[in-house]
Amino acid sequence: MRTLKVNLEDRSYPIYIGSDVSLDNELYSKHISSKKIALITNEQIADLYLSEISQTLNAFDLKTLVLPEGETEKNLETVGKAVEFLSDNGIDRDSSIIAFGGGVVGDITGFVASSYMRGIKFLQVPTTLLAQVDSSVGGKTGVNINTGKNLIGSFYQPSAVIADTRYLNSLEPNRLSEGLAEVIKYGLIRDEDFFKWLSKNTNRILALEPEIMTHLIERCCQIKAEIVSEDEREGSIRAILNYGHTFGHAIESLTDYSVYTHGEAVSIGMVMAASMAERMGMLSQDDKTDITRLLESVNLPTKKPDLNSNDFLESMKRDKKVQDGEIRLILLESIGRAIISNNYPNEILMETILE
Ligand SMILES: NC(=O)c1ccc[n+]([C@@H]2O[C@H](COP(=O)([O-])OP(=O)(O)OC[C@H]3O[C@@H](n4cnc5c(N)ncnc54)[C@H](O)[C@@H]3O)[C@@H](O)[C@H]2O)c1
Repeated sequence: MRTLKVNLEDRSYPIYIGSDVSLDNELYSKHISSKKIALITNEQIADLYLSEISQTLNAFDLKTLVLPEGETEKNLETVGKAVEFLSDNGIDRDSSIIAFGGGVVGDITGFVASSYMRGIKFLQVPTTLLAQVDSSVGGKTGVNINTGKNLIGSFYQPSAVIADTRYLNSLEPNRLSEGLAEVIKYGLIRDEDFFKWLSKNTNRILALEPEIMTHLIERCCQIKAEIVSEDEREGSIRAILNYGHTFGHAIESLTDYSVYTHGEAVSIGMVMAASMAERMGMLSQDDKTDITRLLESVNLPTKKPDLNSNDFLESMKRDKKVQDGEIRLILLESIGRAIISNNYPNEILMETILE
């Protein structure tokens, strides 16, 4: 097992990573001070793993809420239902909640934990690769409303994250690739050696070798933890975690969220951002080729679909990251070095969109 720490003064917490770590009941006991606890999950994860985790948690009086499956459940109605469930089951200020699932369950549960009784403790037990390397770490919680994704939420850190590589074996292949898009992003923004390691170990990653996946998750969480420790509330540097996302969000939105997964759209977005940096004379052509090759080798798309360029630009302007109408872009100076820029020629952005 590997352990790392997210350093945030009194909100610091450990991340435990490894095969079978979720079966270690002492890890939970260390971070939970009550007998009664709640666990929130969804139907699909419950079918696969609820009996196993309930067994691990048998020293506690466990109350389980199983939500229907899907991103559409990430809404205020579900938050209301969850809060009623906690209250009906006598969950109090000293209790903890366990978020057991992917990013959807994690985001809902974190938000519920941050607001129930003005905040009670919660643990993340992420079960998708995306949740293990990204959404369970850093404290962003929230749900969607009709006018936008994640528009209501909070920054609220968990007491611990327990990331078990074993859960990855039951993921659908496209969900694995989706997580790998974020993994590759960490190499691109912060760590060239990690990018090279990923390129060298693609087959072992796709085979989900436990030691390889433990290292991979550990390095991603280290990078995210470093960035979050520097800038918890995304005042500045945390924005580099959005590399490829502004282009990606436009692709998702203009294809009605029905053609690409989020990770696939981000993959195309990362290549678009690399093209833009290349046009600006920042990134070399070889680097761009290596980026495209690695994404394709883990079954991610890299080619922009044919979309209207004005619609594309308008969609980018609606992104949450826009400041005073200026689209802030994350661009690469080289693999491993990202910058935040709103000082780029608009014609180059347009050429990139038209490519
Ligand atoms: N809070 C953050 O910082 C942050 C960061 C990135 C994304 N997100 C959010 O995360 C969500 C996406 O997360 P996700 O990609 O994990 O999606 P998800 O939670 O919808 O999970 C994807 C699918 O995999 C299933 N699943 C989960 N674990 C499984 C397992 N071990 N085996 C088989 N199937 C399993 C789920 O039931 C679901 O059908 C979005 O709502 C996004 O907004 C949040």
